[in-house]
Amino acid sequence: MTTTTENTVENTTETPAVLDASGVTMRFGGLTAVRSVDLKVNAGEIVGLIGPNGAGKTTFFNCLTGLYVPTEGKVSYKGTVLPPKPHLVTQAGIARTFQNIRLFANMTVLENVLVGRHTRTKEGLWSALLRGPGFKKAEAASHKRAMELLEFIGLEHKADHLARNLPYGEQRKLEIARALASDPGLLLLDEPTAGMNPQETRVTEELIFAIRDQGIAVLVIEHDMRFIFNLCDRVACLVQGEKLVEGTPAVVQGDERVVAAYLGTPFEGAPGAEEAAEVEAAEEAQSTTSKTSTTGETSTTSTTSPEGETQ
Ligand SMILES: Nc1ncnc2c1ncn2[C@@H]1O[C@H](COP(=O)(O)OP(=O)(O)O)[C@@H](O)[C@H]1O
Ligand SMILES: [Mg+2]
Repeated sequence: MTTTTENTVENTTETPAVLDASGVTMRFGGLTAVRSVDLKVNAGEIVGLIGPNGAGKTTFFNCLTGLYVPTEGKVSYKGTVLPPKPHLVTQAGIARTFQNIRLFANMTVLENVLVGRHTRTKEGLWSALLRGPGFKKAEAASHKRAMELLEFIGLEHKADHLARNLPYGEQRKLEIARALASDPGLLLLDEPTAGMNPQETRVTEELIFAIRDQGIAVLVIEHDMRFIFNLCDRVACLVQGEKLVEGTPAVVQGDERVVAAYLGTPFEGAPGAEEAAEVEAAEEAQSTTSKTSTTGETSTTSTTSPEGETQ
């Protein structure tokens, strides 16, 4: 018995990664937003993508989903190279949510999920919206699946509400349900907890674990480090379009270059390190002057989080 287990383990590593992005580069005119990034997501994995604002995380997602045609590189899903067309990428099995929520505000919660389902029904979007004859047959099945998804995210009691009337955190969850409606094998989440309170963030964490447990691999962009390091099997950090570090949460958390990238402290060889040092020195000089002029003032009234604001 013990002799055969080794072979089995070797064989399972042969399966192609769910996502295999290699050498992905995206240039906008003179700006290279993403530079030769390689990233894999394997079956059953939750992978995190972190990095300061403007690092190229969303641009990388847009390259994966066909919204942008990468200047260089290729993206494969389960061993097949993807054509850079959003609807073909969705059909292949990749679904996403957006950093800035994109829902049909004047449709109900249920209708939003049904729209996400149209890639998997023969009838298609227009038939679904116009309620043509073909739609009636597929309607029952789609409706059932959409309600299951709403139950899964805990919004079944709001199926008839207009999407625009949902609180922000629930709109984010609805976007996840809509993405799941296309039966993806990989889900890409762009800042799913932005603007959420700690309680909502914890619920989202549980939701993502549950999604993974259903056999859907997840790639998630987030700024909340506690959330990312708790959730992910692996984390990659982008800085100025380049993948700086990749590894387990413990490795990435302990990497001084990642800490430096977030705190803005230049590390040896960092692009733009000199400018950053100058800015830091100027800020320091300014804060010493402002401290002396505002003696006796406390700033405890300001509780707004700097992260999570809509950008
Ligand atoms: N469509 C675009 N045209 C030109 N520049 C863009 C475009 N999209 C993103 N960028 C630039 O690419 C860089 C990376 O942006 P983005 O991917 O949004 O970063 P992140 O999601 O990590 O905050 C930024 O400098 C941004 O201004
Ligand atoms: Mg972004």
